[in-house]
Amino acid sequence: MKNSKPSKQRLDQLLTSLGYASRSESKKLIASGLVTVEGKQITKSDFKAFHHEVLFDGKPLDPLQGIVILMNKPKGLVCSHDDGEGQLVYDLLPSRWRNRDPKISTIGRLDKETSGLLLLTDDGQLLHRLTSPKYHVPKLYEATLDRPLRGNEAEIFASGTLLLNGEKTACLPAKLTIIDETHVTLEITEGRYHQVRRMFAALGNHVTALHRSHIGNLTLGDLKEGEHRILAVDEL
Ligand code: URA
Repeated sequence: MKNSKPSKQRLDQLLTSLGYASRSESKKLIASGLVTVEGKQITKSDFKAFHHEVLFDGKPLDPLQGIVILMNKPKGLVCSHDDGEGQLVYDLLPSRWRNRDPKISTIGRLDKETSGLLLLTDDGQLLHRLTSPKYHVPKLYEATLDRPLRGNEAEIFASGTLLLNGEKTACLPAKLTIIDETHVTLEITEGRYHQVRRMFAALGNHVTALHRSHIGNLTLGDLKEGEHRILAVDEL
């Protein structure tokens, strides 16, 4: 997470970077008296204040850059900024968050038909760290299979020799835990395209339902499908 020392910023700049309104609209909102700083109404948009001192319409401002969001992604939504691809995971966030600068993006992706734990951030460094293949953050998936396990899957996944269709390097060792013959959990440390589905496809099976329950030590806790919460600095 970003840990730069807070500095005072112009009120119009603050509102615009957090997505409340365009620069010109922010100036109008401030002039109309919607902003207070330490309890005093301020109508000049070039007034400088610390983020935590400002209320907009009586409420504290959204968090500054460095926000990390944990979402329980439902099936059917896509991890993309492109509206043409269907309903987006960003549609579950407050609409003004779509206008933040820097923008909020998912940390890695879950495919459209996969549900579960998804992280989002506007912190480019964090995004890089958590998606880079150098940092093997374990991710745990719950999978339902079309056909009963044949028996040697755990050994093959653990061996680090499994080649996915069209790829030249084998998957890193992954840990399969069998719940019953069509229900498993699989822990992987990479994030290849549709990796879990393709790992089972490589062994002649088919994943019919997929849910991510953990990333590292993070879990969904009480979050219901479609809900999200902002992570505290010490949770990452
Ligand atoms: N593996 C998949 O197949 N899909 C996902 O969304 C994540 C991992």
